[in-house]
Amino acid sequence: MHDFQTLLRKRRSVREFADREVPEGLIRDILRESCLAPSAMNRQPWRFSVVANRSTIRRLSDESKKNLLADLEADPASPIRRYEDLLRNPGFNVFYDAPCVIYICGPCEVNSLQVDCALAASYLMFSAAARGLGTCWVALGANLRDPALLGELGITADLRIVAPVIVGFPKAVPELPERNEPVILGVLR
Ligand SMILES: Cc1cc2nc3c(=O)[nH]c(=O)nc-3n(C[C@H](O)[C@H](O)[C@H](O)COP(=O)(O)O)c2cc1C
Repeated sequence: MHDFQTLLRKRRSVREFADREVPEGLIRDILRESCLAPSAMNRQPWRFSVVANRSTIRRLSDESKKNLLADLEADPASPIRRYEDLLRNPGFNVFYDAPCVIYICGPCEVNSLQVDCALAASYLMFSAAARGLGTCWVALGANLRDPALLGELGITADLRIVAPVIVGFPKAVPELPERNEPVILGVLR
């Protein structure tokens, strides 16, 4: 366990995982800590769907890739264009063969849903890092539309996916990608 400042510096988006499952107890611990995140009016709108089955994770990746490519066909100027080659590669798993994906979602009607769930995701990623786990928010995996697949995940039509986060024991942890100094527009005293 790191002190908090070390944890802030050590958490990295991990995209290479050891061939090892994440114990369910650990997942439950990090989900409990995710719920310590602040939320507007303390509504805690987040819901979690945990997928720890590799063939289902592969189906989720394929479904999201398919929908992203359909969006690109509909809007050729979409910024998704930069990922086109990857998305067309049948071997590319948007979840990097992670052993576990956690979908953070919540009711569409909550105005602050994106912000609240992003905070829960942030807590989740730090909680996991403190336990030696690697995570990565994978927006490319969020584009699920098949009602049957969403049903398997327990994600009903009234819920919106905000953050798919992969979790696993890291095989490799990348270096810190360069960070900018804070852009301080002013300090009023
Ligand atoms: C909203 C969001 C979406 C992201 N989507 C992806 C993604 O689809 N695939 C991916 O490999 N990384 C994704 N990332 C991870 C970022 O690339 C990563 O956070 C960034 O490069 C900084 O690296 P660090 O997390 O190690 O500090 C996403 C991160 C955020 C916050």
